[in-house]
Amino acid sequence: MLVIVKENYDAMSKEAARLVADRLRKKPNMVLGLATGSTPLGLYKELIRMQRDEGLDFSKVTTFNLDEYVGLPPSHDQSYHYFMHENLFKEINLDVRHIHVPQGMSKDVDVFCEWYEKRIVECGGIDLQVLGIGGNGHIAFNEPGSSLGSRTRIKTLTGTTRMDNARFFKTGEEVPRYAITMGVGTIMDAKELLLLANKTGKADAVKAAVEGPLTAMCPASIIQMHAKAFVFVDRDAASKLTGNYNDSWESKIFQ
Ligand code: F6R
Repeated sequence: MLVIVKENYDAMSKEAARLVADRLRKKPNMVLGLATGSTPLGLYKELIRMQRDEGLDFSKVTTFNLDEYVGLPPSHDQSYHYFMHENLFKEINLDVRHIHVPQGMSKDVDVFCEWYEKRIVECGGIDLQVLGIGGNGHIAFNEPGSSLGSRTRIKTLTGTTRMDNARFFKTGEEVPRYAITMGVGTIMDAKELLLLANKTGKADAVKAAVEGPLTAMCPASIIQMHAKAFVFVDRDAASKLTGNYNDSWESKIFQ
């Protein structure tokens, strides 16, 4: 694992974008795993800028998103399809045929999940997977207690997650009950991981993931088992870490 501590969110996001751009320039047809949520927004903004100002080319890139709510159409403003379209896809020159976001409207979710796993393999596997982390240590929708070997599947959202989401919907009934998510095992198959975290609210989760015991109670702690995991954090999210960490991913010295 290579932990990179940056002064603030902006510096963290820009550095993460430099890493993604480096991988993309080395492999123009790379397979990029993407996350939603507030954390990667700065990274996406910087990638959009790099495409505009530096000609960073996404035309041959294939993407796979981590998760999506079941029952929300792509046009719903709370769907992850919509989020990705608004915050990244519409701004860069990705070929829409190369974009994969789990289909929350699938008639047969199990069949879809199996297909998603196969499709990742068909595309050569994920080269670099971007990840956020939940305050409770979740990655994608793999909440504490999720199998560390799990694959893409349907998950029931916890009461807390549904309550957190309620503010985005008109009625409580509309709040999704299920989500499709890549499993922890699916995420671990990516050749490189790029986990991002900022703000003090993530400090405990980052501490548990990076320096805590490997446990299903903190699914993100599985990154300790990955041969090439980068953890990019701002000072606030790093505030509980006690190890000595770098400020450059270019050193390539994995601990
Ligand atoms: C989103 C995802 C989630 C988020 C996590 C952090 O695709 O997989 O695990 O990464 O909940 O969310 P934010 O970034 O909003 O704090």
